[in-house]
Amino acid sequence: MAGIGKNIEEAKKLLDANKLVGIPTETVYGLAGNAFNEDAVLDIFRVKQRPSFDPLIVHASNLDQIRGFVKEIPDQAEMLAQELWPGPLTMLLNKKSVIPDLVTSGLGTVAVRIPRHPLTLALLNSLEYPLAAPSANPFGYISPTKAIHVNEQLGDAIDYILDGGDCLIGVESTIISFEGKIPTILRLGGQPIERLKEFLGEVKINEHSTSQPAAPGMMKSHYAPSKKLILNHQSDLLKKYSAAETGVLVFGQMHTEIPVANQYVLSATGNVNEAAKNLFSAMRELDQKPDIRIIIADAIPNIGLGKAINDRLKRASAE
Ligand code: TXA
Ligand code: MG
Repeated sequence: MAGIGKNIEEAKKLLDANKLVGIPTETVYGLAGNAFNEDAVLDIFRVKQRPSFDPLIVHASNLDQIRGFVKEIPDQAEMLAQELWPGPLTMLLNKKSVIPDLVTSGLGTVAVRIPRHPLTLALLNSLEYPLAAPSANPFGYISPTKAIHVNEQLGDAIDYILDGGDCLIGVESTIISFEGKIPTILRLGGQPIERLKEFLGEVKINEHSTSQPAAPGMMKSHYAPSKKLILNHQSDLLKKYSAAETGVLVFGQMHTEIPVANQYVLSATGNVNEAAKNLFSAMRELDQKPDIRIIIADAIPNIGLGKAINDRLKRASAE
């Protein structure tokens, strides 16, 4: 198991030696390594068992540092950077050669963000390089939102996890590209699209990028528990399972026919932000309960972070 603590110097010492460290962000925990070092980057792919065609996100402490490794920042990206960073928004920008091709899986663009977490910002400020960090879970599984989630799955492969408490947002960052005329969202996430539209006017959502190697995080079956997950009540399907075998991700009121211990309330008051924060740990806990064979997710309104939640639930339910 890895050490868990708030020791930024310990994390820096390991990262400077091109080792990997679990880091907290406002969205989910990351598996971080020196983005300029190929050995560290290779290790990220190995530890996560991530296919080499799925590029990583690079985390920086400030915009000046980013200017050092991207060719240019389009006006719209500059505006979003000023307004929304640090925050749950990842932008695709043309990379300079200091970013190894391994990081971007050979693409000319690098995914970049400044995360909004005091511990990780302090760590990034102490480093002379940015951090490549995908979510700290085995490829395809649910992203971690607590330090202990990282330790459970990757603790044997890394030395240290910086403990920043529970992630405040709970779903991964929104990814945006400026390649076309109109900015395109490649992954719905922690930065609600409604807010992006306030700055950009029109945006496109590329829901069909699921099969593009350019954005494999958009793959249909992803963010998935090992048990079957279904959306809402599909009553004919439910007849196959007893109440004791059924788990529920509850939005609003609990279900009277299902044991209380099998129900995880994402938000009792119908708050999508609260539901996003609780989503992944609830999915994990239901996944770990031995008696449960099926997980039902209540319907969530498709507004604000509800859009990102519904996207993750849809992917988690895909075969
Ligand atoms: O909130 C987050 O974004 C978290 C925290 C740790 O920052 N990170 C995260 O990383 O979710 P990851 O690796 O699980 O997802 C990154 C996604 C992948 O789906 C990848 O395909 C996409 O970003 N991506 C990275 N670079 C890309 C690029 N140049 N073009 C298109 N997609 C890219
Ligand atoms: Mg991920």
